[in-house]
Amino acid sequence: MKPLIIALALVLAAPLPAAAHPRPPRDLRQLSQQTGIKIGSAVDIAALRAESDYRKTLNREFNHVTAENAMKWESVEPERGVYTWADADTLVDSARRNRQQVRGHTLVWHNQLPAWLTAGVADGSIDDAELRDILRDHITTQVRRYKGKIRAWDVVNEVVEEDGTMRQTIWLQHLGPGYIADAFRWAHRADPHAKLFINDYNLEWNAPKIETTLSIVKELQAQGVPIHGVGFQGHLGIQYDYPGDWANVMRRFADLGLEVAITELDVRMELPVTPEKLATQATYYSRAMTDCLSVRACREMTVWGYTDRHSWVPGWFEGQGAACLLDENLAPKPAYEALLAVKRPR
Ligand code: G3I
Repeated sequence: MKPLIIALALVLAAPLPAAAHPRPPRDLRQLSQQTGIKIGSAVDIAALRAESDYRKTLNREFNHVTAENAMKWESVEPERGVYTWADADTLVDSARRNRQQVRGHTLVWHNQLPAWLTAGVADGSIDDAELRDILRDHITTQVRRYKGKIRAWDVVNEVVEEDGTMRQTIWLQHLGPGYIADAFRWAHRADPHAKLFINDYNLEWNAPKIETTLSIVKELQAQGVPIHGVGFQGHLGIQYDYPGDWANVMRRFADLGLEVAITELDVRMELPVTPEKLATQATYYSRAMTDCLSVRACREMTVWGYTDRHSWVPGWFEGQGAACLLDENLAPKPAYEALLAVKRPR
């Protein structure tokens, strides 16, 4: 009896060998657990409904989701006062069942606005005061509907031009620059627990855009406006250099107290696909993850679609594609393997 007790004591006293070196993750969910970074994907709702392999893979791999189109204004209110929530509801319900958090995308944008709104502003039947009421009602209605179910909202999307000036949208032209502060305040009132983000593309490297966006954040903070995060869309292409200063840019926003997220990562290439291009693409994905890992405030990395079967890229950039982690048949590409191999810096 005694030797057994001694042996047991020795075993219990021994240091835990493998704890500091966890096994390589078997999928993105495990990578997320090991790194503490939420890993998400934009979701095509039609595919979610119709394709069981798409659905299974999405739910196996990702613990965060964004509606690629279903929460945009033209999707949720195609006719004035007629709300079509079915697709957005499908995503939010599916996320709850599959233990995924949700990024709401997007409340204020200049694209994918319903025709009744843009036409009404253009022909003067909607005046500026009414437009402001319409925007407030839109934000309030949508944020309230999903109160408690959306972790983070892209409140304003792409509000700065490449040259650092404010983008000339119907919002700026008719409501003045104060529309941004209003949007954040209205969203916060509708769901005080949701994290509220400003989101943009080319913010990874474009200096004028970075400086203006930093100024917007500082000004909002000075006015006591509830802004909690910055989203870097991260639409990259291997024909351009990787944005090597990205982690530093993330840090500048983190220093203002903001959460940082990569919200729409993809890495396109000129077709045809070659093994060399796929290898280069893999380094871009793993560098993005490594950059996020190197900044404590970076809490989420979301890809803009996870499969080349459903990607916005070929429809928008002629002759380009293959931008996602998995191919059309949902087979993992080198980029997927490269992500699993990324290590948290010690
Ligand atoms: O809804 C119609 C459908 O009825 C029709 O059958 C189909 C035929 O092409 O078109 C459908 O609309 C398309 C819509 O996506 C929904 O699929 C539009 O033509 C198409 O232009 C639209 O593209 C979306 C794009 O935003 C529009 O601005 C992309 O899917 C979506 O990936 C893209 O996402 C944006 C982010 O929101 C913001 N950041 C940039 C990113 C990439 O452009």
